[in-house]
Amino acid sequence: METVVSGIRSTGNLHLGNYFGAIRNFIKMQHEHRCFFFIADLHALTTHPKSDQFKQSVRNVLVEYLAAGIDPKACTIYIQSDVPEISELYLLMNMVAYVGELERCTSFKEKIRKHPDNINAGLLTYPVLMAADIIIHKASKVPVGKDQEQHLEMARNFANRFNHLYGKEVFPEPYAYNFGEALVKVPGLDGSGKMGKSEGEGNAVFLNDSPEVIRKKVMKAVTDSGPSAPNQEKPEAIRNLFNLMELVSSKDTIEHFETQWDQCSIRYGDLKKQLAEDMVTFCAPLREKIAEIGANESYLNAVIEEGAAKARASARKTLDEVRAVIGFAR
Ligand code: ADP
Ligand code: TRP
Repeated sequence: METVVSGIRSTGNLHLGNYFGAIRNFIKMQHEHRCFFFIADLHALTTHPKSDQFKQSVRNVLVEYLAAGIDPKACTIYIQSDVPEISELYLLMNMVAYVGELERCTSFKEKIRKHPDNINAGLLTYPVLMAADIIIHKASKVPVGKDQEQHLEMARNFANRFNHLYGKEVFPEPYAYNFGEALVKVPGLDGSGKMGKSEGEGNAVFLNDSPEVIRKKVMKAVTDSGPSAPNQEKPEAIRNLFNLMELVSSKDTIEHFETQWDQCSIRYGDLKKQLAEDMVTFCAPLREKIAEIGANESYLNAVIEEGAAKARASARKTLDEVRAVIGFAR
């Protein structure tokens, strides 16, 4: 049994990218390993420092975790800010993180580009907090999507540097994990890049989207004028639609449209209709559970309390060891 940690920022509702990149693996791992899954509300502050929706967003992610099948009896589900030990470890790990490497981080550079008016130090040290999230439980496996690979590499560097500095193997090396397969990158509907909540209207399909909204978004997805010769390579926007079908559609459906593509007889309208229906079928039961669990206030509060207690007990143990290794008096 290994220790597993992963989290998702509470900056909005969960989408299919979050589901297939991360949550699907949380569900698969929770019965086999010692798992900690949390809601990264401190990380959310780096880009959303003040939001009327702050509390609600945290709750939404919790409800969606539970609706997706993350089981608080099988693992520990908690809110990052409920575990102050993480913040203390973050401070300590900042001493072994170099400004140069943080400035070179791709996600930092991207955030500077997107939020030039709020380049706060929290954004720069985002990977340090993420490392603290992981190593506070001494985790070795971190189920995440492809976009998090570099953050994991940085977490390994910080953990190793700490171990070396103090001459003790306090932290194991954490690795991004997807059952031996390549890390997942779910494309968005806008023809390029990845599905993400900050990628613009219509790019992401949310687990809680209504069938009408899903249909509308998918029908608007970017395509082109179609193949001009048999057996062509697919351009990116079309490949993205096929990649999305791989997640929610049956093998027969995919084969059907692959053949049509190869024979130049494909009609994108038909493909999108089918993709939309398959997404609706996938999301509908989740949406129902989100409504049901979201209405159960006392259950949610109990999950939050129990998760915080379990996560703090684990975090405290590591932090005590870290403090002793550094040489704090008590
Ligand atoms: P967003 O990119 O929408 O802000 P987060 O950055 O909070 O979402 O991502 C939370 C988790 O979901 C991470 O493990 C991340 O790798 C995964 N994830 C997000 N978008 C995708 C995607 N398009 N494909 C694969 N995994 C994704
Ligand atoms: N950085 C991750 C993301 O944007 C979220 C995250 C924060 C995380 N802390 C983590 C993921 C620890 C895994 C482990 O998706």
